[in-house]
Amino acid sequence: MKKIIVTGGLGFIGSNLIDLLISKNYHVINIDKITYSSNFYNIKEHQNSRKYKFIKCDIKEKKIKKILFNHKPIAIFNLAAETHVDRSIDNPENFIQSNIVGVYNLLECFKEFSKKYKSKLIHISTDEVYGDILTGRSAENYPYQPSSPYAASKAASDHLVSSYVRTYKIPAIITNCSNNYGPKQHPEKLIPKLIYNILNNKPLPIYGRGKNSREWIYVKDHCEALLKVFKKGKNGQFYNIGSNKNLNNLQVSQKLIKVSKNLIKLKDKVKIIFVKDRPGHDIRYALNSNKIKKKLGWSPRTNFEQGIKLTFDWYNKNKAYYKYLSKKDIVNRLGKG
Ligand SMILES: NC(=O)c1ccc[n+]([C@@H]2O[C@H](COP(=O)([O-])OP(=O)(O)OC[C@H]3O[C@@H](n4cnc5c(N)ncnc54)[C@H](O)[C@@H]3O)[C@@H](O)[C@H]2O)c1
Repeated sequence: MKKIIVTGGLGFIGSNLIDLLISKNYHVINIDKITYSSNFYNIKEHQNSRKYKFIKCDIKEKKIKKILFNHKPIAIFNLAAETHVDRSIDNPENFIQSNIVGVYNLLECFKEFSKKYKSKLIHISTDEVYGDILTGRSAENYPYQPSSPYAASKAASDHLVSSYVRTYKIPAIITNCSNNYGPKQHPEKLIPKLIYNILNNKPLPIYGRGKNSREWIYVKDHCEALLKVFKKGKNGQFYNIGSNKNLNNLQVSQKLIKVSKNLIKLKDKVKIIFVKDRPGHDIRYALNSNKIKKKLGWSPRTNFEQGIKLTFDWYNKNKAYYKYLSKKDIVNRLGKG
């Protein structure tokens, strides 16, 4: 039986990755602390499956070592993290604890485990570590220049993982992905927030003038890239994962309005409004993902038009998803500085 540990598997990308791994016949152990962004709705299809097991645990806990030795996973995908930039502006402490101290503990436990058993740690990170990329695209050798406490905590964790590969020769790989969208993402993030507001007849708030540009990738394409990295990636390497497709926030909201108009009747309050910008808001992120394409033969399959339609459709058909979340976490504006 091939067992894989996914940390943070009650969240957005982790739960999509669990769907993929179970469909490929892996047995998955999901380790999650259960925070505001966790949602048991995300894994409801697997709850009674013999290929799925949930363990409530913080990656900071020493118990991680015991879990590794008990289950002997062939891989660990680390997606456990605090992830919302606005929350990191209001309270960086949780980000330091989960994203840095937690990863340090995971590395210490994995160091011992990987001396005895063959396994691989895939550490999932973000394009935000490179900071503002005003022109061109950042490849893997681009310097880290994080702007927010969130991005800085992820940068620190990437450096820790990389230092453990070099110093202790642990088998680990780091991936840096661009902005994901798709089913099961907490509505504090841009696209699901806009969808929630469209479904609930509310205005669509856009930071600043909507000019901030992000590279959007459909979550299932990211998950396929992660599996490819596990199967074919080289220890100690960094792999960027992106779609090569940038859109600014205004363009995203305009496309979403267009897609939703074809699927539901829009009510009168659904219109774009500009709100106070986020402090330190990076203008643009853009990855050069040639390495993963050339060396591992991965490329994304879903273009933005297809992906956004699938995403809107999922939220529209899964309104029960919202019932598992606290309303204040959906509607309150955070991170004004
Ligand atoms: N969402 C994106 O666009 C994006 C892009 C690139 C990289 N990433 C990275 O992918 C990973 C997952 O992101 P996401 O969007 O799915 O996040 P998410 O916020 O939806 O889910 C994170 C999950 O991790 C859990 N968690 C948090 N701290 C924990 C801890 N200390 N111990 C155990 N579990 C903990 C939470 O309870 C939650 O279920 C993160 O590392 C993030 O930095 C995300």
